[in-house]
Amino acid sequence: MCGIVGYVGREKVDTVLLNALSRLEYRGYDSAGIATLGSGTITILKESGKLSNLRKLVQEHPVSGQLGIGHTRWATHGEPNQKNAHPHADPEKKVALVHNGIIENHAELKVRLMEAGYVFQSDTDTEVLVKLIEKYHIKMGQTLEESVKQAIREIRGTYAFCVISALEPGKFIAARKGSPLVVGLGQGENFIASDAPALIDYTRDVIFLEDDQMVILTQDGVRVSTTSGREISPVVTRIDWDAKAASKEGFDHFMLKEIEEQPQVIERIYASRLAQGPNKSIFDVLNFDEKELIQTERLIIQACGTSWHAALTAKFLFENLAGIPTEVDVSSEFRYRGLLPQKNTQVLSITQSGETIDTLMGLRQGKEKGFKTLAVCNVLGSTIARESDGVIFTHAGPEIGVASTKAYTAQIGVLFALSLFWGKVRGRLSEARCSELKEEFRRLPEKMQTVIGRKELVRHTAQKFYEARDFLFLGRGINYPNAYEGALKIKEIAYIHATGHPAGEMKHGPIALIDEKMPVVCIVTESVVYEKMVSNIQEVRARKGRVIALASDGDEAIKAHAEEVLYVPKCDEALSPLLTVLPLQYLAYYVAVLRGTDVDQPRNLAKSVTVE
Ligand code: F6R
Repeated sequence: MCGIVGYVGREKVDTVLLNALSRLEYRGYDSAGIATLGSGTITILKESGKLSNLRKLVQEHPVSGQLGIGHTRWATHGEPNQKNAHPHADPEKKVALVHNGIIENHAELKVRLMEAGYVFQSDTDTEVLVKLIEKYHIKMGQTLEESVKQAIREIRGTYAFCVISALEPGKFIAARKGSPLVVGLGQGENFIASDAPALIDYTRDVIFLEDDQMVILTQDGVRVSTTSGREISPVVTRIDWDAKAASKEGFDHFMLKEIEEQPQVIERIYASRLAQGPNKSIFDVLNFDEKELIQTERLIIQACGTSWHAALTAKFLFENLAGIPTEVDVSSEFRYRGLLPQKNTQVLSITQSGETIDTLMGLRQGKEKGFKTLAVCNVLGSTIARESDGVIFTHAGPEIGVASTKAYTAQIGVLFALSLFWGKVRGRLSEARCSELKEEFRRLPEKMQTVIGRKELVRHTAQKFYEARDFLFLGRGINYPNAYEGALKIKEIAYIHATGHPAGEMKHGPIALIDEKMPVVCIVTESVVYEKMVSNIQEVRARKGRVIALASDGDEAIKAHAEEVLYVPKCDEALSPLLTVLPLQYLAYYVAVLRGTDVDQPRNLAKSVTVE
């Protein structure tokens, strides 16, 4: 959470900073600010609320200079107001700093600094870092580099920060531990940002900083070292995302665009993972013996939110298609769970951003306990991708809408391909069944396109129910995780209370909620549990619940049990979640639009959750 950027070069600094920040706004949008350095003085402009407020302020107060830093905030310590907005500076505005992360020992440092006469202007944890640098750099006359290193020795917690000094113009310094930072390399200009898409308009060549590294950037070069002073020869990575992939391309919202990109995402997964496979090349990174991978006897998957729903879906795939017993945990629980040593067991992390702190800590606990660690991840160069022993990238492209859509289907897509690989090498899946499933997967994009073609019907349904106070979502078997996903989508973007349940659990409590006002979305596509699901729907109807059924094409009988029916093409049950999730995403989207919420940047959320 929180996005930071920095620039040194020949362009107008405010334009570059605002543009880069606009691509990071998904990381938080409680306030935004910039600090620029021109003619030896630092100018700070900051405003509470979204970046548009800062833009207005910058228009009213144009800044000069070719060096600056910027921040978009997701508040942790201190209210989301102007006072707590970054950048923070010393009273004389000699140094200014932006920070992402949490300084855990800020309270004790603050007491010490106040006793030494420093006056604090905000309620943030970040300000102690400014004061420490002010102490060493301004008061004691050390270089900015030495002062940064000294301050780092005194703080505990997570950080990615970026600092400028009026005493050392022409450069800025950034450092990281636990929060991401990417250096962008240009010609006569250099950049820093919390993640690569922020730099997409300027450069493709980036350096992903590691924990405990810092970098000094000038117009003509970058120098990377550890925070204890060891020089590093950094690896330069070329990224292949283009600016179009990170723009709305005429859609009203990123979320809508990303929903409709899902057929291409699945098509790419087929071409890269299945057309010639499945084989071990399914892994983009594999830093251990292939034999160990093949001998996997048990899997523990850990993930958060939507990625956790993908994990729950994958449990069905790994157990049914590959015969691998699979446990699934939410990362925030997994990381504190006593993990018992188990032979031939891998810990698999699923994450879009690759930066979710709970998932990262879960991965590290897996490593500590001696497990091999695998990851399914969307963002190249992210911390989880770099720290895992084996990685499959989902290559869904940048996902900008805060609510995850295409990253989810991409996760299920590659997890499906992985289950076919394991099913084959472990002798659990016949050649014929494997080919049949591959063929079903190949035909999915066309079927997804059919569902997209029916979005008006979902909009019509949304129109009927958008004023509801609550929603229930029910599913069984491999589609029950989608009941969770449908509920999560509507909660996060439409701000409607919703819960998802495995339908068989209804009678153990949630059925008490049903009355004549309650919309109940029931996933009842063709499956081995179809009859059971119909019985559950009848239980809802008997209590006057308003059933919205999600059924397979040709199921006329379901109309007798539902007020609304949304159809999806028939497909193998193992792949059905990739179709049934589409109407659920559209339903949340249209309900949110009708309620007038901010679809791409819903309140209180951030896309990359880097705090515990
Ligand atoms: C919901 C959503 C979140 C994320 C969760 C994990 O739409 O996006 O629930 O799925 O914060 O994030 P990643 O996958 O980046 O680890």
